[in-house]
Amino acid sequence: MRIILNDLMLAFSTALDYVEISLIGATNGHSRRVAALSCKLAESFGISDEQRFYLTVAAALHDNALTEFICEELRPAITEDGQIDAYVERNLGRHCVMGERNVSGLSFYSEIKDAILYHHERADGNGPFGKKPEEIPTFARIIHFADIMDVSYQFGDMNQEKYEKINRFLDERGRKVFDDEMIAAFRRISYDDLAACKWNDMLGTIPLIKKDYSSKEIEGMAQFFAKIIDYKSPFTCSHSMGIAEKARKISQFYGWDEAAQDEMYLAGALHDVGKLMVDNAILHKPGKLTDEEYEDIQDHAMGTYRILSGISGFDEITSIASLHHEKLDGSGYPFHKKAEELGFKERVMMVLDIYQALTEPRPYKEGMSHEKSMSIIYGMVEQGKLDGQAAEDVDQCFGVSGE
Ligand SMILES: [Fe+2]
Ligand SMILES: [Fe+2]
Ligand SMILES: [Fe+2]
Ligand SMILES: [Fe+2]
Repeated sequence: MRIILNDLMLAFSTALDYVEISLIGATNGHSRRVAALSCKLAESFGISDEQRFYLTVAAALHDNALTEFICEELRPAITEDGQIDAYVERNLGRHCVMGERNVSGLSFYSEIKDAILYHHERADGNGPFGKKPEEIPTFARIIHFADIMDVSYQFGDMNQEKYEKINRFLDERGRKVFDDEMIAAFRRISYDDLAACKWNDMLGTIPLIKKDYSSKEIEGMAQFFAKIIDYKSPFTCSHSMGIAEKARKISQFYGWDEAAQDEMYLAGALHDVGKLMVDNAILHKPGKLTDEEYEDIQDHAMGTYRILSGISGFDEITSIASLHHEKLDGSGYPFHKKAEELGFKERVMMVLDIYQALTEPRPYKEGMSHEKSMSIIYGMVEQGKLDGQAAEDVDQCFGVSGE
């Protein structure tokens, strides 16, 4: 399957920028700006086009483990001592380790190895892993520089006053944080050049990487993204992967070719990517939601559409993924589509999403049995909400005989 990695990474870093970035002291657009400044610094280093591309990807994804960190470690810790900032600072290295492990499944991992693991190491050796500059790969040092610059100086809009402040900091205390080579690389970029950059748009200027990826490579990417999405919802930490796997299995059941299987797999893995944009306070609220909060949650389907529709070649995947909450009678969302506007693959995904949600276990209850789940789904078929054929196929594919 041919994927333009630039589009995919850009779309995803946009989504990642909605995750609780305030935790790390950053503002909206942090990942994109860190990627853009890293790319600029790489030019100053004289790094080749292809390597510059991979650096930019690593920079765009440098905080990819924030959802996991929040879900696995931060949330349980807050209830204990209520000290969020102190906890994050004491455990800064955790999102580096998790983030590095997450990207290790990507097919181009060898190009960016250790870039995320060491993105908080300081030149004076006081980073989470106590590494010295000579032990840290250039990519990690560049991302670290760009990260600190954005968090401390909101790099988006450069002006003379800010530029002087940055230079004063680099003169007075910069060497504790950054090594000489990094500081020199930054200083080779002129003020005019920095001021002219539209940081939020700059990712469009990185070299274009358009490649054919095998099913295996696509699975690696899908799993990377699905994990980040799944950690956003505390009770359903394998929902996206569960759907991706079922989407592949049912595609094989239909005898669809490998390209169609990959599309269904990706659509399943990414169908809830819009959840990254929903506020955690709403997503994790224990009690009943207000109408407004419920609408915010429903917005995730539109978020999925917005994120995926920016990726060229993803038309089919966008449609299958973002219509999973539609209903044949027009009562679904986000577009209130009617039966005649919903293709068969979309109908299968609509059933799979409900089937997965019903059968997956939650911390407070076991997953529902296949039979019980199917009786609810058939009830929805009778109400004219779901496709009868798709429901029967899911029943056959995942029932006792299909398992
Ligand atoms: Fe970070
Ligand atoms: Fe960061
Ligand atoms: Fe959803
Ligand atoms: Fe879902």
